[in-house]
Amino acid sequence: MTTTGFDEEALDASYRKALAAEKAGRTDAAAKGYRACLEIDPDDHVGARLRLAALGAGEAPASAGEAYVTTLFDQQADTFEDILVRQLGYGVPGLIADALSRLGFEHFDRALDLGCGTGLVGAALDGRVDEMLGVDLSENMVEIAFDGGAYDHLYIGEALAFLEEFEESEPFDLIAAADVLPYLGDLSPLFARVAARLSSRGLFVASTEALVDAASDGAGAESGFAVGRDHRFHHGEAYVRAALEAAGFTILAFEPITVRMQEGQPAPGHLLVARRLG
Ligand SMILES: C[S@@+](CC[C@H](N)C(=O)[O-])C[C@H]1O[C@@H](n2cnc3c(N)ncnc32)[C@H](O)[C@@H]1O
Repeated sequence: MTTTGFDEEALDASYRKALAAEKAGRTDAAAKGYRACLEIDPDDHVGARLRLAALGAGEAPASAGEAYVTTLFDQQADTFEDILVRQLGYGVPGLIADALSRLGFEHFDRALDLGCGTGLVGAALDGRVDEMLGVDLSENMVEIAFDGGAYDHLYIGEALAFLEEFEESEPFDLIAAADVLPYLGDLSPLFARVAARLSSRGLFVASTEALVDAASDGAGAESGFAVGRDHRFHHGEAYVRAALEAAGFTILAFEPITVRMQEGQPAPGHLLVARRLG
């Protein structure tokens, strides 16, 4: 047992065993191994729930989970931009900036970047926002965003909790979530909280990874989202549109995009711009 509250060595051993079984195509053994991981560490730092769902051996969880997301991005922070942007061609922040311009939205008084990561959205919108706030679970990612200087205020925290609990009541006229929805399953709670934090006619801009056949063999597809083989959530267009409308948004744009390259193939997604009604 360590300060993390679980036996890290036992977790590591179970995880490696499960991964090896998965790679060898021994699905039952892999599922057993991932279940053992959850018994050792119910907070799920290794993302065992996502892996079980992707194997079809467990229900899709509500989200990727705080412990897993924090661990993953704390580990990836230093190489994130090099790998994602330069090697895999990730360009969602630029697509967001372009889409807002195309729709005629050039300036914002107060914007919130959910899952801001290393600050690429802040950089893409630099000079167009009077007050820019960012929040992210990963402290290491936020440190890089801080060094970039595009944000007036940065917070370490979970996006939904932040939207619910942030003490300032002044609304935002823009809320962005670039490549964050793939870490959340059911989007309805997020959309409702985003709507509650936006000014009347404020904008929400976000990207999803699309639910296509190759990604939909994990658990949950029938609900409009599923955990793909890449262990991220993929969302169907009809599901996302319905969830936005139910939360009181009108959809201004819903465009197919390539999120990044994945195993040599374009990873398809959507870029959405929605406006809070009333
Ligand atoms: C793929 S990165 C994208 C970062 C940034 N938005 C960009 O476009 O470069 C996803 C980020 O979302 C954060 N994240 C995922 N789920 C989150 C949640 N529920 N609350 C806060 N941050 C979250 C991760 O820590 C990570 O920094």
